[in-house]
Amino acid sequence: MSSPQSLLIRGARILLPNGEFLLGDVLTRDRHIIEVGTDIANTTPATEIDAKGLTLLPGVIDPQVHFREPGLEHKEDLFTASCACAKGGVTSFLEMPNTRPLTTTQEALDDKLQRAASKCLVNYGFFIGATGENTPELLAAHPTPGIKIFMGSMHGQLLVDQEAALESIFAQGQRLIAVHAEDQARINQRRQEFAGIQDPAIHSQIQDNQAALLATKLALKLSKKYQRRLHILHMSTADEAELLRQDKPSWVTAEVTPQHLVMNTGDYQRIGTLAQMNPPLRSPHDNEVLWQALRDGVIDFIATDHAPHTLEEKAQPYPNSPSGMPGVETSLAVMLTAAMEGKCTVAQVANWMSTAVAVAYGIPNKGAIAPGYDADLVLVDLNTYRPVLREETLTKCRWSPFEGWNLTGWADTTIVGGQIVYHKGKLNTEVRGQALSFV
Ligand code: DOR
Repeated sequence: MSSPQSLLIRGARILLPNGEFLLGDVLTRDRHIIEVGTDIANTTPATEIDAKGLTLLPGVIDPQVHFREPGLEHKEDLFTASCACAKGGVTSFLEMPNTRPLTTTQEALDDKLQRAASKCLVNYGFFIGATGENTPELLAAHPTPGIKIFMGSMHGQLLVDQEAALESIFAQGQRLIAVHAEDQARINQRRQEFAGIQDPAIHSQIQDNQAALLATKLALKLSKKYQRRLHILHMSTADEAELLRQDKPSWVTAEVTPQHLVMNTGDYQRIGTLAQMNPPLRSPHDNEVLWQALRDGVIDFIATDHAPHTLEEKAQPYPNSPSGMPGVETSLAVMLTAAMEGKCTVAQVANWMSTAVAVAYGIPNKGAIAPGYDADLVLVDLNTYRPVLREETLTKCRWSPFEGWNLTGWADTTIVGGQIVYHKGKLNTEVRGQALSFV
């Protein structure tokens, strides 16, 4: 075990839990924040960071990522993904069960936790996947942020698209259910209607707004029937946002991805199949309604849905090109750039990307800069703009849908459990995160 370590961050613009900023210092010892003040004196820290001109935010908690290990390591693995996290200011992640084998048993969950303990630079948690036939595993799995159900857009065992099978999961147990809400029957029917079209823009028409709305309505209906904690993953349409605005029980939360806020169907022309994801990109109107829903609290937080595929895989013509795009390296900068453009405030970004996630998933001691909280922090530079460059990406898939975008708010320094894991372009690959707990 490491010996007691202290770290003093000097002269940062610190985001406080009340949303105000303090120009001052933060002292951490071991894994925790000890003190926050205007001028911390009488201390001889092991390490000191000069944070003049930088803004200190709670580390990003990304609540939906696909990191591909085990089984699909040619796309990504827990080491490369966590390096990308560290660079992006992401200090914790919640990962999805569509790996090989699928994470549908305690054994598979334990295997992921063990792999992460040995190679993850940031903190980690793993969803348990529903198959429609593994209810005992869903009830007993530990530790996990919740049950992931693919209501659509998934093949094989992880697809649960029949109402009776869904109802049986909602009816048993208490833990959070997170849904990928797309209606598989409608997708199947529209795939036939549009068969033969290779323009990837057709993806947004096949898996259209209605497909998302139908599934979200069904999930809401079941959640209300059993008062079951429901989380709607990567909500993508104005229609769903309006539905939730009218009728959102207190036990329901929803998230949106940065790409569903700042990209739309126009982006197929720019980057072709690299813009293909599930649920698909929508219209500029959907972008605006989602932004408003986020600002109004109808949507609770942000997730990237980091879903890397190789450029070779993506180069196959539609529909053979796989859906998904990487995101953990760029999410914070994309959102902070939007904040600097006046779309929202920096404090709102920190809430959506850290505080609100910790609250929704019951992750103790994370998501705020205050004494007693875990020292998971990110220092960002809001004064400089730099383009997203393919050659600088750390994700194993080595591309980004935001290539060429000029962004600000890049992480200067990322701190996990009081240890510097990324500083001015350099990783410390010795740092290890910890398993998250959920209360
Ligand atoms: O586009 C997507 N790709 N959406 C998902 O939900 C799954 C993901 C993947 O695993 O590739």
